[in-house]
Amino acid sequence: MSSRQPLISGNWKMHHTHLEAIAVVQKLAFSLNDEDYRVLAVSVHPAFTALRSVQTVLEADDIPIALGAQDVYPGDKGAFTGEVSPVMLAKLNVRYVIVGHSERRELFGETDEVVKAKLDAVLRHGMTPILCVGETLAEREAGETEAKVSRQLSSALAGLSAEQVGGLVVAYEPIWAIGTGRNATPEDAQQIAASLRQQVKEACGADAAARIRIQYGGSVKPDNTEALSLQEDVDGALVGGASLDAGTFARVIHAWRS
Ligand code: PGA
Repeated sequence: MSSRQPLISGNWKMHHTHLEAIAVVQKLAFSLNDEDYRVLAVSVHPAFTALRSVQTVLEADDIPIALGAQDVYPGDKGAFTGEVSPVMLAKLNVRYVIVGHSERRELFGETDEVVKAKLDAVLRHGMTPILCVGETLAEREAGETEAKVSRQLSSALAGLSAEQVGGLVVAYEPIWAIGTGRNATPEDAQQIAASLRQQVKEACGADAAARIRIQYGGSVKPDNTEALSLQEDVDGALVGGASLDAGTFARVIHAWRS
């Protein structure tokens, strides 16, 4: 059993108005207890329009669920119509920011360079990046999974101190498993998580490798969570569809610590 505290993150994507988000987070808080929070960390990642409302609920009721964002602009301020800066997120007490989600990379053309700039911006403002890496089905079938995720990780690690790297969260999300109901086997998730950790060890040392948290994401559901939780190098999950409903998300969280 590692000393890393698992992190279960709910990525709500473009779902839930601020009113719906409030209802979900309140119901989720009712479903979780002190023992859950002792064993693992939980974050929710609402749309930008719901961040302030969810923050207010969490802080007013002292709920130990961390607030997360789904994306960020790399610069602090300026003429960038439609973008949201890390300064704005930090001011809302956002703790975790997803960077490089495959939907951002594929649908919005984010390159490794853009993802790296976002990751650095998140760190600069004292928040924790959740860096997403993962391969397409074609890459998996061509045996290129490890090379692809290793390239994505090494681009993100450039120039960071071992201390900073140890504090990161990486989410291994095979693209073919996201929203498809197909998920990687727990053994596949373990194999890639172990190879990412080994890469961190070689690049930044044993301490950073022992600390960095590596989540699995892609069709995580209540009934496939427990097997994932048993994998030595998998330190939590990035959950999309199954995090939208508070009851289902609570079942994922409970399955992780069962
Ligand atoms: P999913 O999404 O759980 O709906 O597959 C995961 C993700 O995209 O982070």
